[in-house]
Amino acid sequence: MQNALQLLTTRRSVKPLELKEPGPSEAELETLLTVASRVPDHGKLTPWRFVVFAGDNRLRAGDLIAAAFGAQHPEATADQIAFERSRLARAPLVVGVVSRAGPHVKIPEWEQVLSAGAAAMSLVLSAHALGYAANWITEWYAYDRRVLDALGLAGHERIAGFVHIGRPAQPPEDRPRPPLGEIVTRFGE
Ligand SMILES: Cc1cc2nc3c(=O)[nH]c(=O)nc-3n(C[C@H](O)[C@H](O)[C@H](O)COP(=O)(O)O)c2cc1C
Repeated sequence: MQNALQLLTTRRSVKPLELKEPGPSEAELETLLTVASRVPDHGKLTPWRFVVFAGDNRLRAGDLIAAAFGAQHPEATADQIAFERSRLARAPLVVGVVSRAGPHVKIPEWEQVLSAGAAAMSLVLSAHALGYAANWITEWYAYDRRVLDALGLAGHERIAGFVHIGRPAQPPEDRPRPPLGEIVTRFGE
C-alpha cells in the first residue's frame, strides 16, 4: 500500500523531448494497455480505444500532421514542417486515447468522456509504476479534423490525449500543488 501511495504522490509529467529510449517493451505495453482498459465505465460501454504510435510509424503519423499543418500554413518554413512531422516521435512511445463517447439512452455522454480521462490517467500512472515517465498532452493536432480523419478516427470520436512515454532524461522536480484548503470543503461545516 505504501508503495502505491508513494507512486501516486511522486508522479510528475515529463516533457516529450525529455522522454528517452528505451521505451516500454511489447510485454510492458500490453500491461499498460491492460491497466488503462480496466477503468470505471458506467454501463460497460467501453467508450474509449487506444492507438499505439511506435517505431517508424510515429513519423508516418507525423507526415499526416505535417501535411495538415502545411495546408493551413502555406508560409511554413522547412524547419516548422520538420518539427510538426516529429510531433509523435519525440518520445519512444505514444498512445492516443480516443474517446468514443456519444448519446446513449441511459448513460450521459459526460460520464463516457470522464471514463476516457480515467483511461488516460491509468496509462500515465501505470507507466510511472513501471519506471517510465509520461506526458498526457493534446496539442493542436488533437483538435484538427483533417488530422483525426487521417489517423482513422470516426466522425464522433475525439482525442482524450496523446500519452507520451519514455525514460525521464533526469528526475523531474515537483511543481506547486493546489493547497487542499483551497479546493476542499466539508459539507455542513
Ligand atoms: C486533457 C489534457 C490535455 C493536456 N494537454 C496538454 C498540452 O497539449 N500541452 C501541455 O503542455 N500540457 C498539457 N496537459 C498538461 C500535462 O498533462 C501536465 O498535467 C502538466 O504538464 C503538469 O504536469 P504534472 O502532470 O506533473 O502536474 C494536458 C492535460 C490534460 C488533462
